[in-house]
Amino acid sequence: MDGIELLSMHETQEERAHDFTPQTFEDYIGQQELKQKLAIYTQAAHMRQEPLDHLLLFGPPGLGKTTLSQIMAHVMNVGIKICSGPMLERTGDLVALLSSLQARDILFIDEIHRMSTTVEEVLYSAMEHFRVDIIIGQGAGAKSVNLPINPFTLVGATTKTGMLSAPLRSRFGITERLDFYTAEELRDIVLQTASFLQFNITSEGALRVAYCSRGTPRIAKKILRRVRDFAQVARKEIADLHFVDDVLTRLGMDSDGLSALDNLLLKTILDNFHGGPVGLETLAALIGEDKETLEQVYEPFLLRMGYLEKTARGRQIAGKKLPYLKKKFLGQESI
Ligand code: ADE
Repeated sequence: MDGIELLSMHETQEERAHDFTPQTFEDYIGQQELKQKLAIYTQAAHMRQEPLDHLLLFGPPGLGKTTLSQIMAHVMNVGIKICSGPMLERTGDLVALLSSLQARDILFIDEIHRMSTTVEEVLYSAMEHFRVDIIIGQGAGAKSVNLPINPFTLVGATTKTGMLSAPLRSRFGITERLDFYTAEELRDIVLQTASFLQFNITSEGALRVAYCSRGTPRIAKKILRRVRDFAQVARKEIADLHFVDDVLTRLGMDSDGLSALDNLLLKTILDNFHGGPVGLETLAALIGEDKETLEQVYEPFLLRMGYLEKTARGRQIAGKKLPYLKKKFLGQESI
């Protein structure tokens, strides 16, 4: 086994150093249906000693696409290399990576939609025929040589399949989506991670963390690490609901499970645009976040929780939540 060689863009050193990453499908909590299917596909490929079909995983960031790929590599007893679309700047970067793969290894490319067209084109023959073109020499004497590479599995991760070009999308044998987690699943992930960290948190405390995690394990684990910091300094043996509540308040989360930035976003639409609609770019400029982060990280949760609506003319506060938010931010009773 080759291990993990490159860091995924969205994972920090802190996460990698302290995180519990499940090694088996049994330890992976949630995504039940997908997990069952992937367990069968990997087992079948392993029995045939063949690479798994190329797999496209889509869904919001932080839901465990990398983790699932690591489990698949573990189950098939093969290596995995992890990189991201924007990291592969030149075709040579990708060719080098592809040439270094052992038979049946997994190549995980996060944010695969952010690869340049020329780099993407290298993938076509690599995925289909397990061959790459390399250029030897320079200038007029340069020659293109078509070389074989070991059969491998590409796992591509993207937030939306629509962002992928049709030729690339059609080369994946399996396309699957990951969904947001339920509060109970996130509670169990928090408890499992806490146990790995040898940190005591009550089930109620863990559920409170879960409610503030926007359906996303990565956020749940991040909050857990902060709760652990506060508990350590306060010499608190076990983080109970009350303690977790205090920490969450200090982290800027409120009792609705909204972060300071969620609240700022909603309050800006309310204050400056009477509830909207307002264009995403204007909103991003006003609150000082980049457009992609708003769209991929903040918005999905606010849409899902019914605070926000997308219209042709921009974002607006959902009518149902308007009275509540007016009261919350402006201190006005409902109209
Ligand atoms: N640990 C256990 N289950 C997990 C999951 N689904 N995602 C991330 N970490 C996990």
